[in-house]
This record gives sequence, C-alpha cells and structure tokens, in this order.
Amino acid sequence: LAGLCLALGCLCGADKLLSRSHEWKKLIIVQHWPATVCEEVQNDCSDPPDYWTIHGLWPDKGGECNRSWHFDLDEIKDLLPEMKAYWPDIIHSSPNRSRFWRHEWEKHGTCAAQVDALNSQRKYFGKSLALYKQLDLNSKLLKFGLKPSINYYHILDFKDALTRVYGVIPKIQCLPPEQGEDVQTIGQIELCLTKEDQRLRNCTEPGERPAGVAAQGRELAVCEDGPVFYPPPRRAWHGQKQGKPTVL
Ligand SMILES: *[C@@H]1O[C@H](CO)[C@@H](O)[C@H](O)[C@H]1NC(C)=O
Ligand SMILES: *[C@@H]1O[C@H](CO)[C@@H](O)[C@H](O)[C@H]1NC(C)=O
Ligand SMILES: *[C@@H]1O[C@H](CO)[C@@H](O)[C@H](O)[C@H]1NC(C)=O
Repeated sequence: LAGLCLALGCLCGADKLLSRSHEWKKLIIVQHWPATVCEEVQNDCSDPPDYWTIHGLWPDKGGECNRSWHFDLDEIKDLLPEMKAYWPDIIHSSPNRSRFWRHEWEKHGTCAAQVDALNSQRKYFGKSLALYKQLDLNSKLLKFGLKPSINYYHILDFKDALTRVYGVIPKIQCLPPEQGEDVQTIGQIELCLTKEDQRLRNCTEPGERPAGVAAQGRELAVCEDGPVFYPPPRRAWHGQKQGKPTVL
C-alpha cells in the first residue's frame, strides 16, 4: 500500500484530506418544536405534534460520508412506531417520512457510522430514539414550568432550565422576529454528546462562547438574549396572535 501511495502520491494525499474533512469531534442531538418549524418552512401543518420531536443526530462536521450506503427502511422496521411518533417529517409539506429519514441517514448517519455504536442504520436510528427518550426534553421543560404559551418567556428561562437539568451548555435556536413583530420564536434545541460514548457534554469548547451565525432571512439562528415566544400548536393560538402578549 505504501508503494502504491508513493506512486499515486497526490491521489493518496487528496484522499487523506477528504477523510480528514469528514472527521468529527462531537455529536449533536437536535430536537425541534413543530409549531415553529411549520412557521419557518411556511408549511401549513394542519395538526403538528404538541411535543418536541427529533430533527436528527448529527456529527459536528462533515456530511454524506458514504454516498454508496443507501437508506433501507427494512433495517429499521421494528423502530417504525417510535420513528413515526418521535421523528416525524414536519419540514416537508407532503410528508414522506422515509424521505426525511433517508436524508438524515445519508447526510449525517453515514458520518456518525465512524463509531461502532452507530455503525449501522439500526444502531443509528435506535440510538437516536434511545437518546430522545433518555433526555426526555418534554417533561424536563414542563418540570420548570416551561410550556407553550401566548405569553413570552425570557431566553434565560430556557438556558437555565436546560443547563440545570442536563448539567451541560445547550445551543438554543430561534426563528428571528417577523417584520413588524418584536419577538423571536424558539425553534430548536441542540444538546451535544461525546463521540466516544455518546454522553452529554457542553456544546461549546472550554472558553468558547456559543457561536452565533447571523440569520439569513427567516431561518433558525442562535437565540438573542431577550424575550422568546414558545408557540402553542398553531390551531390553539391562531387569531390570538394579534393581541399583545405579556412577558411572563
Ligand atoms: C460505504 O458503504 C458501503 C455499503 O454499506 C460499504 O460496503 C463500504 O465499505 C462503505 N465505505 C466506507 C469507506 O466506509
Ligand atoms: C417517499 O419517497 C421515496 C423516495 O424518497 C419514494 O420511493 C416513495 O415512493 C415515497 N412515498 C410516498 C408515499 O410518496
Ligand atoms: C461546561 O461549561 C461550564 C460553563 O462554562 C463549565 O463550568 C464546565 O466546566 C464545562 N464542562 C466541561 C466538561 O468543559
């Protein structure tokens, strides 16, 4: 192999560069709030779940690490009831759940598969569901009195609650205010996990502040300090939004 690499020096170098760009350091379990996703993608979700659902389990770097490893629904047949409940496709307007799962597997799962605990589709989706249940975000938020409301919270209510419950620094993303509105809407909560054993860790490195990427148009970005709207599923608050909610 060494001889071959000498002969094909630059090819081997390129290969090494490529695999290095797929190297990742932590996993991110991403959960989103369906009512906000519906708003973000302008999807007329008629009856979005009223609980946080899974968006994905993402290595912090890389994507589509193995384009020949195709999604196979058969491999996760036994997980389907939980997949449908906890990992529904909120993003696409004519939901085709296997399309969403396929995308998550091909973009992120094939990279996550570098670690043994995630090196098959069954393991990748199974572990994601297990983490979702273990983290139990929905009841943790409730325990801190954080439930969807037409009144606003402060983003620190979420940060503090999550940091206390999980003992690590999360990343919280919001949909910026619409023109003429004055408040951001909570949309996504990311919790980070170690690569080796998928245990909770800070999303930031020691000394690092959470990175804020400026929002391009109306898409999720790290929340600003200040009030935040945690919207009840659309049916419940439609028509009430015109009124001026008060900050809780
Ligand atoms: C990519 O996935 C295919 C199908 O599972 C597998 O045979 C192959 O070894 C993988 N390639 C790499 C580089 O892991
Ligand atoms: C869902 O999408 C897959 C391809 O991504 C396609 O094969 C399948 O037929 C679609 N199912 C429905 C119900 O549209
Ligand atoms: C996580 O962040 C908190 C607050 O900055 C810090 O006190 C703690 O030591 C960090 N944990 C690790 C493992 O870096």
